[in-house]
Amino acid sequence: MFGRLNSPEEVFSYDLGAALTMERDTLAMLGRLEEAAQRPEVKQLLREHAAETRVQIEVVEQCFALLGQEVDDSPCPVTKALAAEAETKLKKADDSLADAVVLAGALQTEHHEQAVYENLVLHARARGAEQVAVLLESSLAQERGAGERVKALAERIARTGVATTPEGGMSTGAKAGLAAGVAAAVGAAAAVASKVGGHEESTAAHGVRTGATATDLPSTTGATGTTTGATGTTTGTTGTTTGTTGTTAGAEELNDDALEERIAESEHRSTGS
Ligand SMILES: [Fe+2]
Repeated sequence: MFGRLNSPEEVFSYDLGAALTMERDTLAMLGRLEEAAQRPEVKQLLREHAAETRVQIEVVEQCFALLGQEVDDSPCPVTKALAAEAETKLKKADDSLADAVVLAGALQTEHHEQAVYENLVLHARARGAEQVAVLLESSLAQERGAGERVKALAERIARTGVATTPEGGMSTGAKAGLAAGVAAAVGAAAAVASKVGGHEESTAAHGVRTGATATDLPSTTGATGTTTGATGTTTGTTGTTTGTTGTTAGAEELNDDALEERIAESEHRSTGS
């Protein structure tokens, strides 16, 4: 451990030692996050990156050897703070929401690690320590890859409502959101149908109820497309929505059964089973 840093080389070694602490902290954090994660795919991603992290620890140790120095560590308060933040949020959050907390913590950590390696690589290269630069660059590439995978999974989970259920399916909130979206689309179709009142079959009306007159649509009020369905009152898109939307939404008779079917299909897609 250095007292004062009196040369660029000492600053570099200090940062290299901090990277070693960073990776050791990250390895511990990944284990904790895996424990807290709910979805198997989240656990697997964290496990895979933990394996990469073990290699990254060895890489830093090799860099010290290449520089002819003893392996030394330096403090890394950032990773400790990130781990503490994730831990605090995990304690506060319901278990069903843990994956979003876990992935947020992982993403923040990956970005910090990338910055640490970017800095180390540029200084290693500048001082002519090419082998060290190449080794650290390989770790940087792994961190970028891990960050992308974490982000992609976080996005997928966010789009399906975040929360898990005890059965591992879509949460009630996600179902309500999806149902509201479908009901809104139904409202849009109905609104278009309402606007053409007097015509036997507009494009949208035909989609909603084959052969129905526009004014024959139940539970529909005027141009705002307000409709009541399985989820209660949902305000639909305004009546200016084009018939294309209405046609898409109304490709089948959108009664309660159809709504349930849509939800089931979405659940099937989100679980990938
Ligand atoms: Fe990492």
